[in-house]
Amino acid sequence: MKHKFFILILPFLIVACDRGNREENVAGRWYTPSQLEHGRVVFKNNCAGCHGENAQGTFRWNKKLADGSYPPPPLNGSAHTWHHPKRLLKRTIDNGGIPVGGKMPAFKDKLTEQDKEAVIAFFQSYWPDEIYAEWLNRGGLK
Ligand code: HEC
Repeated sequence: MKHKFFILILPFLIVACDRGNREENVAGRWYTPSQLEHGRVVFKNNCAGCHGENAQGTFRWNKKLADGSYPPPPLNGSAHTWHHPKRLLKRTIDNGGIPVGGKMPAFKDKLTEQDKEAVIAFFQSYWPDEIYAEWLNRGGLK
């Protein structure tokens, strides 16, 4: 009897562990482990409140709000953030979304160049290797 119970809960245990210890992708990436560590702090202090602690975005992030804007999207490689090259990601961080009818604040004067690089590294560390490779292929670093 006990045995059966364990088999039943096993998949849930595996999912729970997987969430807790996500793999952070650094090997073969443009950033260093110390940039990633720095980015973790920048993200937590400036971005996590909207984009979620794990850059997972909000519930129904792709459904327009009553005012015509969108909720914060995931930055973890599951949405379209990876379609943008690094310089465009940086521009979004600099200018935010307000100039184009969105809600994201501008970080141009709030973060240093190093902070911006590091925060990009942090959310990119969630991108699976296939997504990162495709991003590079499309000129992500150009
Ligand atoms: C007040 C909430 C808020 C904060 C804080 C915030 N964002 Fe955003 N972000 C948004 C919203 C909402 C969007 C969608 C565009 C818009 O409405 O401006 C967005 C869009 C983005 C995009 C474009 C995503 C895509 O798929 O094209 C990037 C990249 C991004 N944010 C990164 C960041 C980073 C990095 C930080 C922290 C330095 C941050 N955001 C802080 C709300 C926020």
